Amino acid sequence: MTLGWDLAGIVVDGGSTGLRAGERVIAMSHQLSSGRGTWADLVSLPAHAVAAAPRSASLAEAATLPLPGLTAWQTLDWLAVKAGERLLIAGAAGAVGGLALQIARARGARVDALVSRDVQVAFARDHGADLVTTDGHALEDRGYDAVFDTFGAFVMEAVADGGRYASIATQAGPVPDLSSRGVRTTVNQVREDGAGLNELTKLVDSGSLQLRVHSTYGLQRIQAAHARFLQGGLAEKITVVF
Ligand SMILES: NC(=O)c1ccc[n+]([C@@H]2O[C@H](COP(=O)([O-])OP(=O)(O)OC[C@H]3O[C@@H](n4cnc5c(N)ncnc54)[C@H](OP(=O)(O)O)[C@@H]3O)[C@@H](O)[C@H]2O)c1
Repeated sequence: MTLGWDLAGIVVDGGSTGLRAGERVIAMSHQLSSGRGTWADLVSLPAHAVAAAPRSASLAEAATLPLPGLTAWQTLDWLAVKAGERLLIAGAAGAVGGLALQIARARGARVDALVSRDVQVAFARDHGADLVTTDGHALEDRGYDAVFDTFGAFVMEAVADGGRYASIATQAGPVPDLSSRGVRTTVNQVREDGAGLNELTKLVDSGSLQLRVHSTYGLQRIQAAHARFLQGGLAEKITVVF
């Protein structure tokens, strides 16, 4: 099996899908279930997983968008956060959380951020969060219409009665049951979604969504790319060019 979920590239053969050879595209492949990885110089994917790449971004920048962007987009859809509602994002400086913060602001939500380190505070503030804290105890009790939890924080006291709580941290296990307080909960799983990618592309091109590349490696240096990722401490994405 080939690894990799994200891609940004150029269409070689669109078949009868309407995609034209030479078109710049992005895609997310659900690699774990399909085995169709994207870390290759030629990738075959169903058209429903593919969308136009943002015109305002390089392919390296665009490659940082699909998996974290769709995870953020689909989880915000599940949370159904309306303009003016209060949303808490736990892990708001991470890959998914950083995009969720910007998308939620573009949808008109008021967003607070829980981050892990002081250096992440400025990022969350600069991208529109109101309260930014590294201390889970500083969050207002039952103050949030919705909570988007990216690392298994399980700050259950923060969500308002009747609210919504979504985790994406599959490995942290299920979200505690809060049905007695009328809170809906889920562990959301990302799905292939070309239509969602098209919406994300529009947000990038309108300037509402900024993409973060830490560094770009050629295929010959893919071991160095992995080693740098394993060092940790990254706020941005590593990309590999094939
Ligand atoms: N369910 C799905 O479909 C789906 C899809 C995509 C990703 N995921 C999972 O979702 C998680 C997040 O993905 P990601 O790509 O956004 O990862 P990421 O870029 O590492 O972001 C996680 C963020 O959470 C922060 N964090 C971790 N522990 C914290 C703590 N105790 N207090 C405050 N902040 C904390 C991290 O800070 P540091 O940098 O300081 O550690 C980081 O900023 C991963 O576990 C990933 O496997 C699930």
